[in-house]
Amino acid sequence: MESNLQLVGAVDQGTSSTRFLVFNAKTAELLCYHQVEVEQLFPNEGWVEEDPMEILRTVYECIDATTSNLTQMKISTKCIKAIGITNQRETTVIWDKHTGKPLHNAIVWCDNRTQSTVEQLVAKTPNKSQDYLKKYCGLPISTYFSAVKIRWLLDNVPEVREAVNDGTALFGTVDTWLIWNMTGGASNGGQHVTDITNASRTMLCNIRSQEWDEELLKFFEIPMSVLPEIKSSAEHYGYMTESSLQGVSLCGCLGDQQAALVGQTCFSPGDAKNTYGTGCFLLQNTGKNPVMSRHGLLTTVAYKLGKDEPTYYALEGSIAVTGGLVRWLRDNLGIIKESSDIEDLARTVPGSGDVVFVPAFSGLYAPYWRSDARGTVCGITQWTTKAHIAYAALEAVCFQTREIIEAMQQDACDLEDDKAKMKRLQVDGGMTANHLLMQLQADILGCTVLRPSMPETTALGAAMAAGKACGIWSLDPGDLTSVTFERFEPTTFDERRFQKWKLAVQKSMGWHYGDNLESH
Ligand code: G3P
Repeated sequence: MESNLQLVGAVDQGTSSTRFLVFNAKTAELLCYHQVEVEQLFPNEGWVEEDPMEILRTVYECIDATTSNLTQMKISTKCIKAIGITNQRETTVIWDKHTGKPLHNAIVWCDNRTQSTVEQLVAKTPNKSQDYLKKYCGLPISTYFSAVKIRWLLDNVPEVREAVNDGTALFGTVDTWLIWNMTGGASNGGQHVTDITNASRTMLCNIRSQEWDEELLKFFEIPMSVLPEIKSSAEHYGYMTESSLQGVSLCGCLGDQQAALVGQTCFSPGDAKNTYGTGCFLLQNTGKNPVMSRHGLLTTVAYKLGKDEPTYYALEGSIAVTGGLVRWLRDNLGIIKESSDIEDLARTVPGSGDVVFVPAFSGLYAPYWRSDARGTVCGITQWTTKAHIAYAALEAVCFQTREIIEAMQQDACDLEDDKAKMKRLQVDGGMTANHLLMQLQADILGCTVLRPSMPETTALGAAMAAGKACGIWSLDPGDLTSVTFERFEPTTFDERRFQKWKLAVQKSMGWHYGDNLESH
């Protein structure tokens, strides 16, 4: 058994699946991993839930399967010196601290049951503006963020309300739920903590002080007692009390999109990455000061890699539905068997045949923030086939990304910040395996797209944070010797397609409330 190896494990708990991966701390090489799908529950239209116990179970299942692979590779699990966690952000869990039992299923980030809660909250603001709280937390009032979901739980679930009143309820995003359980839970002193990147997605954390904000708590009427302690993204949170990795330090934690920014070594202002998962999340490092967007982007904490390290901020363009659209074509329309079949199907036609597909299933996130938008397919004729729909779905991913990049460029122009202008786009995530998508993205953006040879950059970022916390990983990008990039250069693109996309977006807005209807 090799025993001088220094390895770091990473839990990557995403919306669709859970993974545990093991990296070599010297070379960043991925040695082995295990992945398990997580079931999503759709109890009502627009509602998306997951079972927190299942999330936890899949984490242990992945850890045990990966460590047994490692043993088969004749590598001792003792080589794993630290564990990092990265997670789907905003997803909200509330549980009882004495029993450890969730008081409700997790409300997933893209769930939009809170539409009327959002309206009530906006009505409460002095200027009736969705952006009223941005100056505190960098975020618009939207169905997306945790505070709005907590408010809904307090208003609609008596068990949650009672437990909060009795002081027995704990709130957490998925990182907090996992760390509390993995460090001992109810019976063994579980640590109730979160990291600053996850805290910055709740709407309760002040973006500048990086602490829970009294004004925000008052606005949402949420007591401080349910909230975890905010820590940096790279420090010791506690030791694993169970599984084959019992006794190993949990010492890295980042929301998944921030972890990908770290994993792609976007450490300089202007560096940006786009992760193509269930949704798409484009983050651009803006340095040590938060920048407020005037073009519909979020201001968020990018990372703080150690207690005494500086905090870096990012502008983020969040797109709710990208990979989720492919899954919908597979599960709801059945036009493909496997998600990966979309590329072959789309390649059977030269283009979308003038079809435009706006997948506003949960409204539109950045840069529009319109919860009343709904999915729209425009331009269908008698000749339209499922291949055109598949092609239009891939284009929709790229058009949405272009809207985000244009918003980022407008913000950079406002600030006369030339450094922040994007010259190339680093990408990662499951969908980047699709060559056609990558080429379309380069064409539609008119800039180079760089795809890393190792697609697991989200988990890599969490492993880097944990490795740094325990002193075995330098964060010098030059050390990532095992990661190379494939380039996609732009070819031609008919700009009228993008204009049509914008037209279709306008048509999708207001659908939920029937704003487009005229009364006669
Ligand atoms: O903000 C939501 C995001 O963190 C979800 O990421 O990769 O699970 O779709 P993913």
